[in-house]
Amino acid sequence: MLMTRALRYSGVCCSLDADKYENDPELEKIRRERNYSWMDIITITRDKLPNYEEKIKMFYEEHLHLDDEIRYILDGSGYFDVRDAEDKWIRISMEKGDMITLPAGIYHRFTVDEKNYVKAMRLFVGDPVWTAYNRPADHFEARAQYVKFLAQA
Ligand code: LAC
Ligand code: NI
Repeated sequence: MLMTRALRYSGVCCSLDADKYENDPELEKIRRERNYSWMDIITITRDKLPNYEEKIKMFYEEHLHLDDEIRYILDGSGYFDVRDAEDKWIRISMEKGDMITLPAGIYHRFTVDEKNYVKAMRLFVGDPVWTAYNRPADHFEARAQYVKFLAQA
C-alpha cells in the first residue's frame, strides 16, 4: 500500500499484524499516542451491513469530515481515493494490516473491490461523529485548515 504521493496527502500510517488486533501492543501504542480512544469494527459485505447498497453509494460520494477518519483494515480490501494538490484522484489500495488516517477536511471516497468484502476497525479521537459533507463543502474551517496544510506541504 505504501505510496509516497498518497503519504503526502493522507496519514497512511503503518502496517500491523491484523491477526492479533485483539491483543496487539503496537496497536495499543498508536492508540495511546494519538488518543484514538474510541473504536468499533465494521464489516462491509452485502449480508452483514444493513442497507449495503445505499451505504456503498454514500461511501463513494466525494466528501469530507470535520474530524480525522481513521481506518485499520482487519480483513479483505478496498480503495480510498483522495484528492491531490492538483485536485486529481490518488487511489490508495488498502489491504489487511493497513492503517490510514484521512485528515479532517480532505476530500475522499471509499469503495470495496471486486471481492466486495472489507472488515475494518474504525478509530476516533473522542466521541465519534460520522457526518459526511459531500463536495462542495469548502466553507468549513476544517477544509480551510487542510488547504493551508497542503499549501505548506
Ligand atoms: C467514511 C468513509 C467510507 O466516511 O469515507 O465512512
Ligand atoms: Ni469518509
